[in-house]
Amino acid sequence: MMKYTKIIFSPTGGTRKAADLLTKNWKDAGTIDLSDAVDDYTKYSFDPEDVVLIAMPSFGGLAPQIALDRLSRIKGNSARCVLVCVYGNRAYEDTLVQMEDAAGKSGFQVIAAVAAVAEHSIMRQFAEGRPDEDDSRELTEYADKIMKKLEAGNTSKLSLPGNRPYKKAGSLGMVPKAGSDCTECGLCAKQCPTAAIDLRVLKSADKTKCISCMRCVAVCPQKTRHLNGAMLAAASLALKKACSGRKANELFL
Ligand SMILES: Cc1cc2nc3c(=O)[nH]c(=O)nc-3n(C[C@H](O)[C@H](O)[C@H](O)COP(=O)(O)O)c2cc1C
Repeated sequence: MMKYTKIIFSPTGGTRKAADLLTKNWKDAGTIDLSDAVDDYTKYSFDPEDVVLIAMPSFGGLAPQIALDRLSRIKGNSARCVLVCVYGNRAYEDTLVQMEDAAGKSGFQVIAAVAAVAEHSIMRQFAEGRPDEDDSRELTEYADKIMKKLEAGNTSKLSLPGNRPYKKAGSLGMVPKAGSDCTECGLCAKQCPTAAIDLRVLKSADKTKCISCMRCVAVCPQKTRHLNGAMLAAASLALKKACSGRKANELFL
């Protein structure tokens, strides 16, 4: 029997919100969480009649490498798939073409793609509150158009924006740290997508593993895990112009 599945990497929930709006009309959809550092992704495989949505945030204009690595262990077996790249109102550059290549390698047939805007997970003043009501309406419309293409059995190829070879990956080098209110509950360590936080040393994180995804900051019950304020202020200033103005969602069919 045909099944619907969402494959999602969403450290702070923005990508998940967009993915949920785009699959409002999917019945009994299951979810594979690509942010789980201990799951065995090789156990997941699909059939040609299945439909899958793959959603990731854009980090530095690229797909997060850890999410691509985990996706590469899943077998698509020609299942049709919808790609969703979610970005924080700057730009997503080569994220979608990278996702297209990765999905193809895993054996998925890409039939639609979406670029959606969500609140910037590091500098939350950019695209604050998005997806908002207008986005919700628009992404729901996209969901209907995608369903029409699926129902028509149309598997026409897409023409997605982005460059090959992809832009060079850089590291932000911003590693969140525990503040003085830390109660050592360990939730940050348990939820870290890259297992960068040692449960016995919660103060900081392994900077060779940390991808600055902000999961630890977002889940901290004390709201005490944080980035260096001066670095954050400098980054905000540097990106202010690039992140200004309301960026539009896009649908590729
Ligand atoms: C390390 C990092 C790099 C990011 N790079 C970009 C970027 O290049 N362009 C952009 O528009 N947003 C960028 N963002 C913002 C995220 O793409 C956006 O907030 C997304 O919604 C985060 O997904 P999540 O809420 O599912 O974690 C970046 C966020 C992080 C944490």
